[in-house]
Amino acid sequence: MHALNGKTVTVILLTALMLGVLYCYISQTFRFVVSFQEEQETDDSSFRSSASVVLKTHVFHLVAPDQNMWDYRHLQYKQPSIVEGRTDVVTVTPWLAPVVWEGTFNPVLLDSIYQQQNISVAATVFAVGKYIMFLKNFLETAEQHFFVGFRVHIYVFTDQPNEVPQVKMADGRKVMVRSVPSSNRWQEISARRMELIQTLIEEELLKTTDYIFCLDVDSKFHGRWGAESLGGLVAVIHPGYYWDSRSKFPYERRPQSRAYVAPEEGDFYYCGGAFGGSLQEVHLLAKTCRLNFENDAVEGIEAAWQEESHLNRYMWINKPSKVLSPEYLWQDFKSRNREIHIIRFSGVVKNYADIRPNV
Ligand SMILES: *[C@@H]1O[C@H](CO)[C@@H](O)[C@H](O)[C@H]1NC(C)=O
Repeated sequence: MHALNGKTVTVILLTALMLGVLYCYISQTFRFVVSFQEEQETDDSSFRSSASVVLKTHVFHLVAPDQNMWDYRHLQYKQPSIVEGRTDVVTVTPWLAPVVWEGTFNPVLLDSIYQQQNISVAATVFAVGKYIMFLKNFLETAEQHFFVGFRVHIYVFTDQPNEVPQVKMADGRKVMVRSVPSSNRWQEISARRMELIQTLIEEELLKTTDYIFCLDVDSKFHGRWGAESLGGLVAVIHPGYYWDSRSKFPYERRPQSRAYVAPEEGDFYYCGGAFGGSLQEVHLLAKTCRLNFENDAVEGIEAAWQEESHLNRYMWINKPSKVLSPEYLWQDFKSRNREIHIIRFSGVVKNYADIRPNV
């Protein structure tokens, strides 16, 4: 009896040991498979090399910085609340996109999240004809306020490449100059912007850049414009119309135009002077607006505010995933409204007769 018991115990122990080894082996393999998939999903280069329509997942995957070996605390910041905050403005659209106002985000937290992603941001400006006079101020103030601490390339499109001012920029930040022909009509300069943005994205940016903003050169930065503005498709509310009823917005009102918006339709009036988002989204926007603009032109129609009209039509159908408040494009001649706690970017006062080739 005793000997048999001994043998049985040995067999049971051996079986348990083998099961244990098997379990460890299987769970290790499983962990390996899981981490291998995670690595593939977060490997940016695999997305960059693929087709332009593939959207990157990291837009929706926000990782707070983890503690490191030397500092056991995570980033410390003010406790968020869902019952206290700004009550004088609306901070979300009816399709649940955030509307970015000062006081609705934590800049330090946002920077720490996006710094880890090592994102790169492109900005485009068009400095054709006399508009070149605004470039120095634009570039100098961008260096002080626009995505400070991030990799930024500012693409300057100009007919006077030799007149582009030298501006000292931090490591990882650069001005890239691209030549374009001069034009006698500012409407035409404006129209070609979408084409140039589309081509720039296709030919140069897809492999190297994550986000792009297209900005007016006759403006300058006064305050932070940073990672809070990142999103798939990003629109800026025009400072001139946000207290008005939609029927008063200067949309294109002729139904024969591809920029047409009916009087009882449309969400907000957005700026043509600032928009952006992921490369893929801005590429689709630029391509669509350009096509609509050109097809209108074939039929002899020019929308009321050229590309701004087409942009507004586009944004009405394709809802922006993030909306920036008028803090992100004010106008210097306007006094500051009470709900504007900070002016980040603003159009400078100018006399159109002095700078436009035709009025
Ligand atoms: C960030 O990306 C740039 C360009 O791809 C690269 O040169 C740099 O080493 C990266 N930095 C980090 C910390 O990964």
